[in-house]
Amino acid sequence: MAQRERSLNDLLSSNTGNPPRHLLSVAGRSKQNLQFILETAREHARRLENKEPKSSALAGKTVASVFFEDSTRTRLSFESAARKLSADVMSFSAGTSSVKKGESLRDTIQTIEAMGIDSLVVRHSSPGVPWQIANWSKASVINGGDGAHQHPTQALIDAYALTQRLGQNDLDGVRVAIVGDVLHSRVARSTITAFSSLGAFVTLVGPRTLLPSDTTNWSVDTTSDFDEALKKNDVVYMLRIQKERTNGALMSSVNEYVNRFGLTRNRFDSLDPMTLIMHAGPMNRGIEITPAAADSAQSLVTAQVAAGIPVRMAVLELCMRGAINNE
Ligand code: CP
Repeated sequence: MAQRERSLNDLLSSNTGNPPRHLLSVAGRSKQNLQFILETAREHARRLENKEPKSSALAGKTVASVFFEDSTRTRLSFESAARKLSADVMSFSAGTSSVKKGESLRDTIQTIEAMGIDSLVVRHSSPGVPWQIANWSKASVINGGDGAHQHPTQALIDAYALTQRLGQNDLDGVRVAIVGDVLHSRVARSTITAFSSLGAFVTLVGPRTLLPSDTTNWSVDTTSDFDEALKKNDVVYMLRIQKERTNGALMSSVNEYVNRFGLTRNRFDSLDPMTLIMHAGPMNRGIEITPAAADSAQSLVTAQVAAGIPVRMAVLELCMRGAINNE
């Protein structure tokens, strides 16, 4: 067994004695720290694939998924990941809760915490809410997406799926175009950080109205020429047009957007067959991505979803053991 794998197993089987930590963002994490999380996820994936006995890593712990905004992938994969580690799971959806009767965020969190939980996976439409909850709570808080701000586990999933496909443990020299509504995308914000930290060159592609006005603190290039970007990059990462966050004035028309920035059938047909295609979902098929591209052998869309389970197992376990650095 490799030294690295042995030390990973030692860590996972030991009690670090550290208090639980949060995962609120991927910002500030070193390449080694990200690789450590991905390595832990690979170990979980290997155990699941080999149908090894269920891990008891979180036996006796309770994970609450606390979602103030809709989700399919994030909620289901976190809840499944927690169960695969033998944790109990509590599920809260604002739309069917006493929030509808006017209960405040703080009272809601205190109420859930009073029932005895060890981790809160939080999604909210307002940026910063997971940080606020981390200040209030003794539990490990994991950001499941806050407004247009951060989605750290999606970034880890993307890094996992891409490194697996490339057969390497970093993204050194990989050229990635992230295309579309960067301005409103928490996925873009987190994935740019994770990909850059792992060594990728990232180019943001989109209409000026949907790109951040100032990217001087981001290690990225920007362009509005999608066809040029398609020729120069190894990976094209399509972003969802976020109807719930986009003011219609930011886009002249959907047709014009598709013509200039959609991965259309014509663009897909002329794409280098080695170019990989990513999308975090949910997809607007026929708008930012043609079904032919989404369902092609070049697409990592299903691999990204599948990566959700082992990556979120790694995050839950490492956070609750206090085994990854807090921000
Ligand atoms: N990618 C993602 O966060 O999907 P959900 O909104 O379905 O969780």
